[in-house]
Amino acid sequence: MEMLVVKGERPLSGRVAISGAKNAALPIMAATLLADGPVTLRNIPQLVDVATLARVLVSLGMNIHGDTSGALHFETVDDSQQTADYELVRRMRASICVLGPLLAKRKRACVSLPGGCNIGHRPIDLHLKGLRALGADISIENGYVHAAADRLVGADIYLGGAFGSTVTGTCNVMSAAVLAEGTTHIEAAACEPEVIDLGNFLNSLGANIVGLGTPFLTIEGVESLSGGNYSVISDRIEAATLMIAAGITGSEIQLENAPLSHMTAVLEVLDQVGLKISSTANVTTVDGRGDRSAVDFVARPYPGIPTDVQAQMMSMMSVTPGKSVIADAVFPDRFMHASELTRMGAQIRREGSTAVVQGVPRLSGANVMASDLRASAALVLAALAAEGKTVIRRIYHLDRGYERLENKLNALGAKIQRVEDQPVEIPSVPSLSKASTPRSNRAA
Ligand code: EPZ
Repeated sequence: MEMLVVKGERPLSGRVAISGAKNAALPIMAATLLADGPVTLRNIPQLVDVATLARVLVSLGMNIHGDTSGALHFETVDDSQQTADYELVRRMRASICVLGPLLAKRKRACVSLPGGCNIGHRPIDLHLKGLRALGADISIENGYVHAAADRLVGADIYLGGAFGSTVTGTCNVMSAAVLAEGTTHIEAAACEPEVIDLGNFLNSLGANIVGLGTPFLTIEGVESLSGGNYSVISDRIEAATLMIAAGITGSEIQLENAPLSHMTAVLEVLDQVGLKISSTANVTTVDGRGDRSAVDFVARPYPGIPTDVQAQMMSMMSVTPGKSVIADAVFPDRFMHASELTRMGAQIRREGSTAVVQGVPRLSGANVMASDLRASAALVLAALAAEGKTVIRRIYHLDRGYERLENKLNALGAKIQRVEDQPVEIPSVPSLSKASTPRSNRAA
């Protein structure tokens, strides 16, 4: 198992490029199942999750190959498969994004229920509600979703849940509705840029979706979708993560291709903290060298502050003077990173569904354990600012969603090594019968 060894307290400088957005690439890759012809996708990030979904699609009869330009080419060569296997789906929740396209294109879909993860309960009831509304027969058997529909029919669907809109739920239902008969209205649709990107991709293949970026989508079903070419948007979460790296280390860096128009709420809160962010053409300068101030915020569905940036913000607020109150309205229990930050000297206490962060002058390097994708990024950021060395284990979480984050940070002057974890020899425990009786009391 690999781990990262981070030497802290090094200023950053220089320029790195932002990669394609993971959460746009995944549903768009899944939606290639809907196309009648070959599809070429560009700006797809090289991530473990992308590789995992590619394996799911290959198992569903898709031929996928890359070219020297980095583009990926997708073409269905066998449409007889309808089952997305547990062994693959369990590795990544987002595999559920094949459900809608598979059902719409092949009229049958059997997809393993996605596993939970450490950020909280993650049901798919809204996905299933939307697909049932389109006329699918849905049943859950042996840990699989079984969906069937000879012809999907347009419907009026309300997709809001107790925690607001659903990103992949909107992706699944929208992808299914594009081939349904008639008109579908989705109310309380997710407005995230990644959902807009999927809708733009589907429209580029001949779909008819109106209202993207608003909670109200209107989808006129079409007979079929052609093949095509599409380039995926940049990753606003990676951009936010690197901006916070500049803030937590008190540095000035440049970012290429940061999608600032998708980051208004993030830019607003970083401005309140004290970061100076400006841009010319596609280069964004982030100056984190000034004083920082504590801020209170609640992570919310788009256009609010993304829940996927909450952990990284908590790292920065841990070493920002004053008290910051952080809540997450999307995943109220998404605070696994808090206990690991505390091991580094952060002062964080839970008060119901909020975390109260009292800034400390500096964190100290420690052995810490990543628990999920964004928590692992938060630990890397904290380690950059911490005194001494930090060792971060279970970094397979990090590789799921960041294109070798340590390479980009090292290019900016950080000192991060990826090394093999040395298994620690656990001493064998003498049997209790011998060890429990102190020697002096033992019968002669
Ligand atoms: C997407 O997950 C992202 N993943 C997540 O990013 C992101 O945190 C999340 O949206 C919120 O923005 C991908 O896009 C692949 P949701 P998703 O459905 O779609 C509840 C990362 O780090 N809900 O928008 O699974 C749910 O429990 C990952 O890149 C239901 O109740 O999230 C949550 O509280 C982590 N019923 C809220 O809605 C449902 O049927 C939002 O979930 C579906 C969701």
